[in-house]
Amino acid sequence: MNAIPQASAPGTVPGYVRNAKLIAWVERIAHLTQAEKVHWCDGSQEEYERLCQQLVDAGTFRRLDPVRRPNSYLACSDPSDVARVEDRTFICSVRREDAGPTNNWVDPAEMRALLQTGDKALFRGCMRGRTLYVVPFSMGPLGSPISHIGVELSDSPYVAVNMRLMTRMGRAVVELLGTDGDFVPCVHSVGAPLQPGQADVPWPCNAEHKYIVHYPETSEIWSYGSGYGGNALLGKKCFALRIASRMGRDQGWLAEHMLILGVTTPAGRKYHVAAAFPSACGKTNFAMLIPPASMPGWKITTLGDDIAWIKPRADGRMVAINPEAGYFGVAPGTNSETNPNCMRSLERDVIFTNVALTDDGDVWWEGMGPAPRHAIDWQGRDWTPEIAAATGAKAAHPNARFTVAATNNPALDPAWDDPAGVPIDAFVFGGRRSDTVPLVTEARNWLEGVYMAATMGSETTAAAAGKQGVVRRDPFAMLPFCGYHMGDYFRHWVDVEHKLQGESATLPHIFCVNWFRKGADGRFVWPGYGENARVLKWMIERIEGSAQGQDHFFGVSPRREDLDWAGLDFSAENYACVIEAGAADWRKELALHDELFARLAPRVPDELLAVRQALGANLED
Ligand code: GTP
Ligand code: SPV
Ligand code: MN
Repeated sequence: MNAIPQASAPGTVPGYVRNAKLIAWVERIAHLTQAEKVHWCDGSQEEYERLCQQLVDAGTFRRLDPVRRPNSYLACSDPSDVARVEDRTFICSVRREDAGPTNNWVDPAEMRALLQTGDKALFRGCMRGRTLYVVPFSMGPLGSPISHIGVELSDSPYVAVNMRLMTRMGRAVVELLGTDGDFVPCVHSVGAPLQPGQADVPWPCNAEHKYIVHYPETSEIWSYGSGYGGNALLGKKCFALRIASRMGRDQGWLAEHMLILGVTTPAGRKYHVAAAFPSACGKTNFAMLIPPASMPGWKITTLGDDIAWIKPRADGRMVAINPEAGYFGVAPGTNSETNPNCMRSLERDVIFTNVALTDDGDVWWEGMGPAPRHAIDWQGRDWTPEIAAATGAKAAHPNARFTVAATNNPALDPAWDDPAGVPIDAFVFGGRRSDTVPLVTEARNWLEGVYMAATMGSETTAAAAGKQGVVRRDPFAMLPFCGYHMGDYFRHWVDVEHKLQGESATLPHIFCVNWFRKGADGRFVWPGYGENARVLKWMIERIEGSAQGQDHFFGVSPRREDLDWAGLDFSAENYACVIEAGAADWRKELALHDELFARLAPRVPDELLAVRQALGANLED
């Protein structure tokens, strides 16, 4: 007998599934979408390999060279489906004002008609000729009191295999659900039904209609038309941030776009830092960083690289878990000098999407190292350095990504899977700013830190469709991910200060950083990557009370002599350039804060408006 369950006709449910609500819902969605088959994912290695082989046969995957990149695949997407689509992302709360001005809103009844109930509803028959994959997953360690379960129904086998690397996925989750456990229902379709006899394409998607839809009151997700990243791997941004941020608001916890790292000092003391940077602004790199050789005894370990769920503990500490179990990281710019831990994580068992294929069956991307003489670019075209020089063609798409299980990371923290989570000592917020924002600033108190995070700006990147390099306000790096009114979200953060109670009550320190200052020549001034450990060291020593800094109008920044420069030649002139907070720049910056607050009025907490007034006065002093 074959132990591997095969896709079966709708109606056949594996014996271990005992949750009546789940069974009925799968049946309902299979009927609505007219899926040809239903496959219940058990999450086994055998199933993973079989689905990968199926993707190879379908032309979606290309198996990479088994010696150079064992057990790894390359997928190249449709050129129209390469990133998150923020303008097609909707928060369908009952009341428009609960979604707030920073989210797209459509009345839930109207959206349901469009997607599910209307005569021409997009999900009607959208899986014809396709298999519906039932993907049960746990965000967070199985059974942890901080974790939550979701089930994604998707017609994309690419999604199923990615979810196996990114989450705890499969039979154990269904067993945990038992007969009446609760889950967040997530429905996903690439929106490309097949007529009988119609040949499939390697990357089915819908160029015309894309909808990434959230119903926060009922905790439901419906995604249509895209097979890429956060649009399609619904446990990630849709559940773990948009739906979870709303759950956290109602239940008294936080769902954040943050990496979590452990840092051990030479004295053997361990701290945990959670850092929010917008998409493609350095979270994966910071979470895996290796301090320079001149910082012996400092060690950094990874708990998470993208999302943190943070809860106040009874003793008054904030504890965090990473709800994910893998990384969906940016490939371009990653190499063995900038991020050796990442490169080692990618040696095997990886799904690459939209990087280039080399002639020896391996992968390459811009910033990986010496360019190959020839490669096939992410769109299947010939690529050579000469072609690139003449046309500017990129071998890899700027938002090319890798999917890999956390267990591949040599710097993985021993507590990464601990259901109890880790206590957070500092929050760090950082944007991508060519100017204005200093290398590092410590907030003088909780409110000023919340203000810094709330008013953060960053240049847009290739992680989302649309113009790149445009400075926009990205509060807490959550602009595209907050599932409710941003002003209410600020209130939630302001109130944390009063909610931590208990014998060890400690508010995390708050810092803001900027690795991306540019000089007159247009190049980054700060070396970044591993050298960011020098800034991290200063933060830890501020927490310990040993490092000095200089007070300025919006916080405390290190003077040059307050940082450890051993082994790095960084001139006083360059330091002045990265640490400067010029009055003219900041007058403009404060005006942009005002614009944001005006947009969010009247829900901006008065406490933050008061900080704004004080900073303005400080600046003019
Ligand atoms: P998402 O997965 O989109 O949320 O992104 P992320 O925040 O994890 O960003 P990631 O660490 O993948 O970095 C994105 C890009 O920024 C890559 O091309 C990196 O090489 C580059 N980068 C990361 N850290 C630094 C740094 O310290 N300095 C500079 N100059 N570039 C950096
Ligand atoms: C981001 O855009 O912040 C990501 C990638 O982490 S995605 O999963 O596509 O959202
Ligand atoms: Mn992200």
